[in-house]
This record gives sequence, structure tokens and C-alpha cells, in this order.
Amino acid sequence: MPKKSLKKARIIIDRDFKVGEIDKRIYGSFIEHLGRAVYEGIYQPESSLSDRNGFRKDVMKLIREIRVPIVRYPGGNFVSNFRWEDSVGPKKDRPSRIELAWGVVETNDFGLDEFMKWAKAVGTEPMYAVNLGTRGIEDARNIVEYCNIKGGTYYSDLRRKHGAKDPYNIKLWCLGNEMDGPWQIGHRTVEEYGLLASRAGHIMKLVDPTIETVACGSSGLGMSTFGNWERTVLECSYDTTDYLSLHTYYGNPEDDTPNFLASSVAMDQFISQVISVCDYVKAVKRSNKTIQLSFDEWNVWYHSNEQDKKLKKWVQHPHQLEDVYNMEDALLVGSMLITLLRHADRVKIACMAQLVNVIAPIMTSDTGAWKQTIFYPYMQASVYGRGVALQTLVDAPSYESKHGDAPFIDSIVTMDEEHDSITVFAVNKNLEEDMEITCDLRQFPGYKVVEHQMLTHRDLKAVNTEKKPENVAPVSYNGSRIEKGILTSVLPSKSWNMIRLQK
Ligand code: AHR
Repeated sequence: MPKKSLKKARIIIDRDFKVGEIDKRIYGSFIEHLGRAVYEGIYQPESSLSDRNGFRKDVMKLIREIRVPIVRYPGGNFVSNFRWEDSVGPKKDRPSRIELAWGVVETNDFGLDEFMKWAKAVGTEPMYAVNLGTRGIEDARNIVEYCNIKGGTYYSDLRRKHGAKDPYNIKLWCLGNEMDGPWQIGHRTVEEYGLLASRAGHIMKLVDPTIETVACGSSGLGMSTFGNWERTVLECSYDTTDYLSLHTYYGNPEDDTPNFLASSVAMDQFISQVISVCDYVKAVKRSNKTIQLSFDEWNVWYHSNEQDKKLKKWVQHPHQLEDVYNMEDALLVGSMLITLLRHADRVKIACMAQLVNVIAPIMTSDTGAWKQTIFYPYMQASVYGRGVALQTLVDAPSYESKHGDAPFIDSIVTMDEEHDSITVFAVNKNLEEDMEITCDLRQFPGYKVVEHQMLTHRDLKAVNTEKKPENVAPVSYNGSRIEKGILTSVLPSKSWNMIRLQK
């Protein structure tokens, strides 16, 4: 029988055509006081797996492996009914409170002071959200004073009294969370929120002019207020806002994998449309300032929905939003990372939501921690996708999807000139066939393939569990070669690929 020829795609790059410098914060993540993200996730003082601060060492090791550069904290929906003062100072004085966003009890055993210690230990930077739901600009002002003023004032001296002599110097602040969503505690109309964000940003920057602020954009492209929300928020708060947020989650409840995998097309449209609105307001204001994007919640989220409907109220840190991710989720996460990188000129911050146990790449039990399928594309992109993103033209066959035309191959090429390395990230969404990609690298003489890591599984629903933690894991794959300056790689059907070239 004649051998069936592979479907082909071309990846076209030019070393001078750059999307832009990749801001490492694009590989950020998120820890919310929700479910077992904090308690039993990053913090478990009674566990032998924890250090003397109660921080889970096994979890810290995995987070360091991803090199997570920033972590958004403490919410999420949680933040909109949170009193930050409850979470600092002697633990015996901290109140337990009912937490209305997720219907649980929050003990405040872990709070701002512990988070800052933990962030330092894990080697990440904080991105702190203020409550603009039940609270307002006075509290936003106070917390910046507590964190960023050296001493000699009420709140800075309070921090010192609590044991932190040096200021925390938190640079990045979220002005509330998802304030467009009717589910949000203290939800506002766009005019109300726009003015509040402007006033909060103003007062916070009076306390510390070096901080950067992220105003809430839409909670998703599907919100009926999308577009008008972004425009009005920026019209009200342009001068005091640095970034506008985007959030999105995708799911596959109908088990329609081609459409699910095409969700990255929708994500791409979402980003482009938000950029258009930002630049429209820039034009109307005749401003020289460009608003950048903070995609500070993105992931797959749907597996745990049914289970979570049965949760009892007012318990402490229940198993909540514990999605168990499968192979196809890892493919979409890979495509979402590629989409973020393809907009590296405007997306400066992005946070996979979330980091541990709650819709997360890392899961824990009392006896250990393991990697979910989505850990791998996230880790590989974060570790090797540094430097600049090259404009990557993908000339590939495509398929019809509910989001429009979806190419079978998603790809981005990154170049790290400092380390003489180039990395090709690519997802093959073709569920039936392997595909061959070629890329002309004659502008990059002397580069060799040093590794091709590939993640696939014959069963798209395959997952990792505590008992079988490496059921889905990347393998070194002998699928790439360079001949006469042309890179040729075979991408197996339904696979995530990272091909590293080095001089
Ligand atoms: O990440 C889970 C939740 O999703 C967050 O609390 C909220 O901001 C979003 O709706």
C-alpha cells in the first residue's frame, strides 16, 4: 500500500518581524481564598510536608518549576466581601467570617502578611486586588499605606508592629474584580464603577505614585455590556489606569472537541476587540498613553460545575472548583498560551486561574502534590517562551467552527537572543492525522534542534490522578530535524509540542 502523505503546514517567520518583547508577567497565576487553594493548597501548618511557616514545600517546588512570575491574590469574587484588616496581625485576634461569594467560612489564618512571606519564599511577585464591592476608596488607600509606606504613619507602623519592617512594595494592584458581573458582591453599573475605579486609582497613586493599576474589563466576551463597559470604564479612569483586565473560561460540556479546541479563536477575537476599544478611547482623548491588557483570569473550567452545586454552606475550605483536567484541556490551554503570546505587544500580564487545587495545574492531598495535564504546556511556555515573540504566520489547513475558521495548527515562535535560543510552540488540533510543519530558518544559521517535547495521549479524556500522576506527561520526541536551513517537524495528531533550537 502506498504510504499516505502527511497533511502539511508552513510556519513563516522573519527575525526582524517581532510582535514584541514578552513580558514575563504573561505567565502569572492566581490564588484566591476559595476551596482548597490556600488551605490544604499552599498552606497546611499541621502537615509534615510543610515548612515552619506552614507553607507546603512540595507545592512550592512545583510552582518554582513553572517559574510563576506573579500571583494575583486574594480574589476573585472573594475579594468583593473581604476586609483586609482581618487578615493581618496576631492570628489569635483574627476573626472568622462568613464568606458570601462562595458560601463558606473564612478563618483568616492565612492572610496578607503570610501571602507576602510565601511569595518571597516561592520567588514570585504579588498582584494584589482591593475590594471595591463592599468597600471603597478609603480602604484602598489604607492598604497601600500598610503595604508600601516605609514607616512613621498609622498603617505602615501597624505593618512593622506585625513583624514586617520593610515595606512590601506591591507594584501591581487590581481595582476590584469582575464588577460588570451581576453575581459580584457590590456589582456596579458601568458609570458607577468607572468613577469608583478612577477615584480608587487616584487615591492609591497619591499614597504611592510608583504603583500600577488594573481596572476591571468584562468578565467575558459574552457579557451583554461588553464593549460599552470597556469604553466607559476607560473614559472615566484613563489617567489613573494602566491596564484593563480580561477574563475567560472555556468548557466542553457537550463533548464537542473540535469546537472546544477552536475556543482560542474566540480568545483571539476577544483580545483584538479589547485593544480596539482601548485605542478608540486613546484617540478620543488625544492621549499619548496606551492602555495595556491584563488577561488576569483564563483557563478551562466546567468539569466541577455539577459537583459544586451540591456543596454544603458555611464550611471551611471544601473541595470546590476541583476540575480534573484531561488531555484535550491541555491542548486548549496550549492554544490559549499561544494566543496570549501572539499578542505580546499588548498583553503584558496574564494569570492562569488558578494555581493550586481550584481549577489548577497543581493538585494536593494530605500525602503529596501532583501535576495536572495543563501543568505541562503552562510550565514549558513559561520556562522557554521568554525573550521576544516573532510574528508567526501559520499557513495551515483549517476547519469550520462555531467561532469561525480554526486552523488545525496553532503556533508561535519565540526568540531569546540572550541565550541564542528559539522555541517553536505548536498544537496540532487535527483529531485524525499527524501533520508536518516546515519553517524556513535560513536567517538563523547554526541553530540545531536540541529537544522536541511532545504531549499527547490516545484518549483525549485521559487525566492525571494521585494514583496515576504521570498518565499524561510530555515525552522527548524524535520528530524534528533541520536540513539546509529548513526545520521539518512531525506533530502527532492531537498534540502539544515544544521544539527548542539552540545555536
Ligand atoms: O476563578 C474563579 C472565579 O471566576 C473568580 O473568583 C471570579 O473572578 C471568576 O468569575
